[in-house]
Amino acid sequence: MIIAIDGPSASGKGTLARRLASHLGFAYLDTGSLYRAVALEVLEADADPRDAGAAALAARNLDFRTLDDPRLRAEKIGEAASLVAAIPKVRSELLAFQRNFAKTPPGGLKGAIIDGRDIGTVVCPDADLKIFITASPAVRVKRRILELEERGLPADPEAILSSVRLRDTRDEARKISPLRPAQDAHLLDTTNLDIDSAFKKACMILEAAGLFGKI
Ligand code: DC
Repeated sequence: MIIAIDGPSASGKGTLARRLASHLGFAYLDTGSLYRAVALEVLEADADPRDAGAAALAARNLDFRTLDDPRLRAEKIGEAASLVAAIPKVRSELLAFQRNFAKTPPGGLKGAIIDGRDIGTVVCPDADLKIFITASPAVRVKRRILELEERGLPADPEAILSSVRLRDTRDEARKISPLRPAQDAHLLDTTNLDIDSAFKKACMILEAAGLFGKI
C-alpha cells in the first residue's frame, strides 16, 4: 500500500507522515531529503545549484545512505534544494529510487508513506491514498523556527519567511513536477491544528477511504 503526502515546505507533512508511518508499521521516505542531499553535494563541490550538469552528476552518484545527515536540514540547503529540484535531469535520476521504495518498502514492510511535492502527481500517481497538506505562511514560519531551534540551528524569523516564500514560488512555478495537489488528493489544512489533531484528521481520511480494512 502506498500513501502519498504532498505539500509546501514546513507545512507539517514530514511530522505527520512519520507519525502515520509508525502507527501503520509502514516505511517512510522524505523525498525532500533526496533533493537536499543533491544540493549539499553540489555546494560541497563548490558548484552552482543552478548548474544542470553538476546537479545531475550529484544526483546520479547520490549515496542514499546519507539522507539522515543533520547538515541537510539547514535553511540554505533547503533553498539550494529548490534550485536543483527544478532541473529535469536531477528529477529523473531520483525517480527510480522513489518508485522502488514505494513498490518494495525496505524491511519487507507492508506499505510506504512517501512525502514530497510531486508524489501524488508524478512519482506515485496510482497511490492508494493522496493527502495534500497546507498551512498559512505565518504558521509554517513558526514551525520551521521550532524545528531549527530543536536542532540547535540558527533561526532568523524574517529570513525564514522570505525563504519560505521564495521556495513556494520556485516549487509552484517550475515547469517540471510543480507543487500542486493531484486531482484525487484529500486536502488537509493544518493552520489551526496541532500535530495530534492533524494526525486524527489524517486517520479519519484513511478510515473514510476504507484503508484500515485493507492493511
Ligand atoms: O520538503 P523539503 O523542504 O525538505 O524539500 C526541499 C526542496 O526539495 C523543496 O524546496 C523542493 C524540493 N522537492 C521537490 O521538488 N520534490 C519533492 N518530491 C520533494 C522536495
